[in-house]
Formats: sequence, C-alpha cells, structure tokens
Amino acid sequence: MRRIRIIGIGAGNPEHVTIQAIKALNTVDVVFVPDKGVEKSALRELREEICRRYIEHDNCRTVPLKVPKRAAAGDDYRGSVDDWHAALAESYERLFRDELGEDQTGALLVWGDPSLYDSTLRIIEAVRARGLAFDYDVIPGITSVQALAAAHRLVLNRIGEPVTITTGRKLAEGGFQDESGTTIVMLDGEQAFAKIDPAGLDIWWGAYLGAPQEIIASGPLAEIADDVVRTREAARAENGWIMDTYLLRRRGQ
Ligand SMILES: C[S@@+](CC[C@H](N)C(=O)[O-])C[C@H]1O[C@@H](n2cnc3c(N)ncnc32)[C@H](O)[C@@H]1O
Repeated sequence: MRRIRIIGIGAGNPEHVTIQAIKALNTVDVVFVPDKGVEKSALRELREEICRRYIEHDNCRTVPLKVPKRAAAGDDYRGSVDDWHAALAESYERLFRDELGEDQTGALLVWGDPSLYDSTLRIIEAVRARGLAFDYDVIPGITSVQALAAAHRLVLNRIGEPVTITTGRKLAEGGFQDESGTTIVMLDGEQAFAKIDPAGLDIWWGAYLGAPQEIIASGPLAEIADDVVRTREAARAENGWIMDTYLLRRRGQ
C-alpha cells in the first residue's frame, strides 16, 4: 500500500529537524514540495535544503506540489477555506496516484509541526475520503511557538495559568481577553497587536525565528508597538516575506 509520511521540519532552521524526522526522510521515495509562488520561495528553499542535507540515498525524487491561491475570504472565511482544501485534496490525490507506485512512500514536509495551524492532516483525510487507499503517519516538529519561547528564554505559562494560542484576526476582533494567562498570536498579517488597547500589556515578538534573519523585540506594548510595526515592514520589504509570532501578557500579575 502507498504510504505518506507527514514530517514536521521545524520553524526555519534546518537544525530544528529531529533525528526521528531524518530517519523518516531516509525511508521515502518521493518528497512532495509545496510551491506557493515567489513570495514563499524562501520557504521552499528551506525544504529543499533539508532534503539535500539529510537524505543520504540518491533514489529520492522531489516533486513540486502546486498550491492554488485561496480565494479572498469575504464574509465566508470557513467557506473559502473549505473550497481551498477541496482543491488541494484533489491535486494531492492526483499526485499520489501519478507519482507514487503502489508500494512506495511519499513525504510531505510541514513547516513547524503539523498539529498547529496547518491543514495538511485535514487535507490528507479528505484525500482518503475521496477513495484513494494509503496509510500515513506523523512525525512531530519544533513549532514557531517553541522557537519564540527559546529566543526570548521564556516559559510560556504563568504558574498554574493557561496559554491561549490564537490568530491576529481573532485578537483584532476580540481584543486581549486572557487576563491572568498568556496569549500567543500567529498568522497576524494585520499587526493586530497595534490595534488593541496596549495599557498594562507586555509583548514578546519574533520574526523569522530560527532563521539567519531572526529578529526579536520585547517590552511594554504601549512603548514598542510602533517600533515593531516599522521593523516588521522594513524586514518584509527587504526579504520579500515575513512570518512573525508573539506572546502577550498582562504585566505584574
Ligand atoms: C500556517 S502557520 C504554521 C505554523 C506551524 N505549523 C508551526 O508549527 O509553527 C504560519 C504562522 O506560523 C508562525 N511562524 C511560522 N514560522 C515562523 C517563524 N520562523 N518565525 C515566526 N513565526 C513563524 C507565523 O505566525 C505564521 O503566520
């Protein structure tokens, strides 16, 4: 039976790749490499670098996986994501059928870890639901949240308190809600941290975590939010892309 290995590769440093992931990579015949266009080419290059560095045999092929652009969400965010997943499931199915022999193994290299704000596992289940029989397993990776905590030498939770992981979109909609705990924000293309009431909040921010361009900043949100917005904009212009994550917490509790 065909087999797909879904491998977390860490958040931007080839040295995040675990020994378990390296062993898994060395069992595969084909690595499917998502191609999201020019702005994401840096991310594709990291995946290619990982294959070059860690796959020891010569009979592994890489096959590009064209990722269709998601339609603008409009009022129906869930609907646009569902349509996008359906399109992806169709192209994954075609590739698995065309590029993998009946007894071959393919790998999907997932940024960070597949359990966190990543749809690969949902899409894989959708491919199975379409009728293609294959087995799959998951190899965990270091998430951008762990990379953020390490870069700032932070413990994520206050003693006995919760940690919420959310998106920029949700933070912009609801403001900071986590009075005694910690909120970690990902997928923030709109700099929501600069739109909420900053009084009493501290931020620990990081971009390109684990990569050579890594930038971090921390301090009272009211004092550093504008600087972070400027730094972020300049870095995005220089590199052509940016990924950032941050942690927010009410001071002194
Ligand atoms: C689609 S999610 C993928 C998360 C990934 N599965 C993980 O485990 O970190 C993309 C978001 O992850 C965060 N992210 C991923 N890599 C990052 C990095 N190297 N530095 C900062 N943030 C990163 C950003 O918030 C980005 O918008």
